[in-house]
Amino acid sequence: MAVLFWLCLLLLIGFLSKSQCVVSQLQYQATLSAINKELGVPGWGANSSDYCSWPGLVCSSNNSMVVKLDLSHRELRGNATLISELKGLKWLDLSYNNFHGSIPSAFGNMSELEFLDLSLNKFEGSVPPELGGLRNLRSLNLSNNLLVGEIPDELKGLKKLQEFQISSNRLNGSIPFWVGNLTNLRVFTAYENFLGGRIPDNLGAVSELHLLNLHSNQLEGVIPKSIFALGKLEVLILTQNRLSGDIPEEIGNCTGLSSIRIGNNELLGMIPRAVGNISSLTYFEADDNSLSGEIVAEFAECSNLTLLNLASNGFTGTIPRELGRLLNLQELILSGNSLFGDIPEAILGCKNLNKLDLSNNRINGTIPVDICNMSRLQYLILGQNSIRGEIPRQIGSCGKLLELQMGSNYLTGTVPPEIGHIKNLQIALNLSFNHLHGTLPVELGKLDKLVSLDVSNNQLSGNIPPALKGMLSLIEVNFSNNLFTGPIPTFVPFQKSLNSSFVGNKGLCGEPLSSLCGNSYNPDHESHHKVSYRIILAVIGSGLTVFASVTIVVLLFMVREKQERTAKAAGIEEDVENNHPAIIAGNVFVENLRQAIDLEAVVKATMKDSNKLISGTFSTVYKAVMPSGMILAVKRLKSMDRTIIHHQHKMIRELERLSRLCHDNLERPIGFVIFEDVALLLHQHLPNGTLAQLLHESTKQPDYEPDWPTRLSIAIGVAEGLAFLHHVAIIHLDISSLNVLLDANFRPLVSEIEISKLLDPSKGTASISAVAGSFGYIPPEYAYTMQVTAPGNVYSYGVVLLEILTTRLPVDDAFGEGVDLVKWVHSAPSRGETPEQILDARLSTVSFGWRKEMLAALKVALLCTDNTSAKRPKMKQVVEMLQEIKQN
Ligand SMILES: *[C@@H]1O[C@H](CO)[C@@H](O)[C@H](O)[C@H]1NC(C)=O
Ligand SMILES: *[C@@H]1O[C@H](CO)[C@@H](O)[C@H](O)[C@H]1NC(C)=O
Ligand SMILES: *[C@@H]1O[C@H](CO)[C@@H](O)[C@H](O)[C@H]1NC(C)=O
Ligand SMILES: *[C@@H]1O[C@H](CO)[C@@H](O)[C@H](O)[C@H]1NC(C)=O
Ligand SMILES: *[C@@H]1O[C@H](CO)[C@@H](O)[C@H](O)[C@H]1NC(C)=O
Ligand SMILES: *[C@@H]1O[C@H](CO)[C@@H](O)[C@H](O)[C@H]1NC(C)=O
Ligand SMILES: *[C@@H]1O[C@H](CO)[C@@H](O)[C@H](O)[C@H]1NC(C)=O
Ligand SMILES: *[C@@H]1O[C@H](CO)[C@@H](O)[C@H](O)[C@H]1NC(C)=O
Ligand SMILES: *[C@@H]1O[C@H](CO)[C@@H](O)[C@H](O)[C@H]1NC(C)=O
Repeated sequence: MAVLFWLCLLLLIGFLSKSQCVVSQLQYQATLSAINKELGVPGWGANSSDYCSWPGLVCSSNNSMVVKLDLSHRELRGNATLISELKGLKWLDLSYNNFHGSIPSAFGNMSELEFLDLSLNKFEGSVPPELGGLRNLRSLNLSNNLLVGEIPDELKGLKKLQEFQISSNRLNGSIPFWVGNLTNLRVFTAYENFLGGRIPDNLGAVSELHLLNLHSNQLEGVIPKSIFALGKLEVLILTQNRLSGDIPEEIGNCTGLSSIRIGNNELLGMIPRAVGNISSLTYFEADDNSLSGEIVAEFAECSNLTLLNLASNGFTGTIPRELGRLLNLQELILSGNSLFGDIPEAILGCKNLNKLDLSNNRINGTIPVDICNMSRLQYLILGQNSIRGEIPRQIGSCGKLLELQMGSNYLTGTVPPEIGHIKNLQIALNLSFNHLHGTLPVELGKLDKLVSLDVSNNQLSGNIPPALKGMLSLIEVNFSNNLFTGPIPTFVPFQKSLNSSFVGNKGLCGEPLSSLCGNSYNPDHESHHKVSYRIILAVIGSGLTVFASVTIVVLLFMVREKQERTAKAAGIEEDVENNHPAIIAGNVFVENLRQAIDLEAVVKATMKDSNKLISGTFSTVYKAVMPSGMILAVKRLKSMDRTIIHHQHKMIRELERLSRLCHDNLERPIGFVIFEDVALLLHQHLPNGTLAQLLHESTKQPDYEPDWPTRLSIAIGVAEGLAFLHHVAIIHLDISSLNVLLDANFRPLVSEIEISKLLDPSKGTASISAVAGSFGYIPPEYAYTMQVTAPGNVYSYGVVLLEILTTRLPVDDAFGEGVDLVKWVHSAPSRGETPEQILDARLSTVSFGWRKEMLAALKVALLCTDNTSAKRPKMKQVVEMLQEIKQN
């Protein structure tokens, strides 16, 4: 009897819960449809009866409750408030979208929520206090938005919070005390805000804090001991604040701490000897503070240490010999202190040392003869010290050296010819302000990668060897204030230098000095010059003629196009009204997309100006939403290229061929439509816009700035795409950052390839203006050859790479009249600017690693944009060079 009762009860419950289930399913369906109506989520609603199969949506397995919603990377905008009605939601990720306005306060009602990520949007206003109602929240990420105001105290209700990220906003006020009371907090990042006040002195006292990153704020006061209390800290980044006081002794309790970055503060006192206990330490950066005392030998206990940067402090004493035990050390940067004594022999034990910067100290020993035992040395920076003795001949075996700075010391003897063996030397060779004598060795001429040579202010004598003409990369020279005699060799970098590079040598004559040499030195000097001027003038003249005619043609086309556009604007109304564009031909090459693409909808989309995405040299791109929900990018070829309509069959064949070109970094056509006399090419729609937008538009509103690793991958991707094109013998007509599209993961795709094929001027289908490309990207030789070439593509690619490195436009009035980005960068040395002043400092100053990679990439960009097309590397080599930078 009892059994029967229970059975009935169970059945009843089952029935009830099932019907309840149906009700909630209908509710979910309604809510989700409303959300889709508001936000237009790609791929949603196609199969409305089964919302659990919609992309980004996860239902619980036993009923159809939505538990997880991942709508990141979808270009969404609109009112997200409705999402809060999905009551059972545990996981909500809306990161990487275009949401703006306030964060909906209704989100505070999603009481089941454990994970909330709203990062990388444009949310404005203050953080809604209602979020404090999310009692189950473990992870809250609001970083990279435009949030202002203080962190609301109501959030103290988030007792379960483990990860709390609010970095890169515009928050002010101070870090609330209750953050220190969150017992589960493991990750706290609030960097790049306007936070002031002190770091709460209970932070980390009750929770196992693993990562604390507060860099680039206005924090004051001391580094609280509490953050080291439980000993679990792994990463500590407090760079760029106004922190003062000592580094707490307790730091040594965190043996798992691998990265300590506390540079650019106002820290005082000695480095605690307890750092020797931090066995995991790999990165210690405390430059630009007021630290003092000796450099503690205990660093030698941190066997994994790869970087030690104590530059610009008040350290005294000698360099501890014990540091020589650091076999993993790659960078030792002690510049700008008051260190004295020898460069200890023992330091040569750092077999992996890549950068040794001891400049601006009072080092008064000699240079160890076997310095090159550190065979990986790339930067040897010893300038502004009191180093005595000779430059050891063995320096020639530092085969990897890129930069050698020994200026302003007391070096004696001669310049060893062996320096000429350092084939990789490229950034600078500086021996200025020493007591060197004798002649300059002709071997220096072998340094064909060297950009800057400074031997000024010594007692060097004899001729400037003509062999120095072998220094093909030279931009900056200084021979001033020596005892040089004879004529200055005829060599462009010399004559292009200021005369201040040669003054103070009584016996020196010839350009750029005003003292002319007697005929006995160089009889054909003058006439030679006249000839070369004549050649140059002729070249410039013909270039101008061609350029002028190109300009006229372009202008004519522009005028014609404008007239046509006006005419067309009047016609559009009719087109839309009679609703049936006359499609002449059209096809979708990709079998499984045929269902989803409606050619008529494609044509109509291009008639609405609001759909316009980009206007390029040869085409305008429109966004077209298909009735199926699929989004396409439709490229409408500009009227001047109408000739291709008359070559329809050929064009279709080319397009089909191109659609089969398979490379991850090329944007392939997936179909085409020809209607009236207009050709439309269909492509996948890529949500992240163009590289030009990423680089030049995000800077105006500092919401999301692409970091260096992202930029380097983009640079490599573009290079790979172009290398592949060249491999299949296709030359691109219009390489520019506007023609590099980015997919959801910032993978670059080179576009406008079909244009290159359809308008190949050698096939006679192109108008003359086609070879012009985009202003600022056109290699100099195009002006007179009128022929697109692979080296020309390399040049244009180099301009794109310079844009990536400098975040500057290829042409900008700021560079001065007639100066474009390429000229501006190439002439930096003559303006007395170092490569580092050209790079986007917001990136190059983030870390030593980034700066190093950026300098290396700059070198590649300089090679690519060489005036002489024959000197430019092949696209394939560019890929290899960049990949090597990434791997190192
Ligand atoms: C819609 O869902 C049903 C059932 O889950 C499935 O059989 C059908 O293939 C789906 N249709 C589409 C277009 O996805
Ligand atoms: C569904 O499973 C969850 C756990 O995964 C449980 O909490 C919930 O009660 C279940 N619901 C039903 C209707 O069985
Ligand atoms: C968003 O929608 C909700 C209702 O769903 C409404 O109350 C709110 O005012 C809307 N917000 C904006 C900014 O339009
Ligand atoms: C949150 O839920 C409560 C109770 O259901 C309701 O009264 C309130 O209006 C909701 N808040 C928002 C902002 O939707
Ligand atoms: C936001 O923060 C959470 C928690 O730390 C993290 O898991 C997530 O990856 C972050 N989101 C982004 C886009 O970085
Ligand atoms: C933090 O916790 C301590 C000890 O539990 C308590 O006394 C204090 O009031 C709390 N502070 C805040 C701001 O919640
Ligand atoms: C933490 O560091 C301090 C100062 O070095 C020391 O006195 C204390 O014993 C350490 N605590 C632990 C748990 O190691
Ligand atoms: C040093 O680094 C290696 C490799 O990452 C790691 O296995 C080792 O445990 C580290 N040593 C210490 C003392 O942390
Ligand atoms: C180097 O300088 C230190 C401190 O000024 C001085 O004591 C020492 O004698 C000097 N050494 C040499 C070799 O000149």
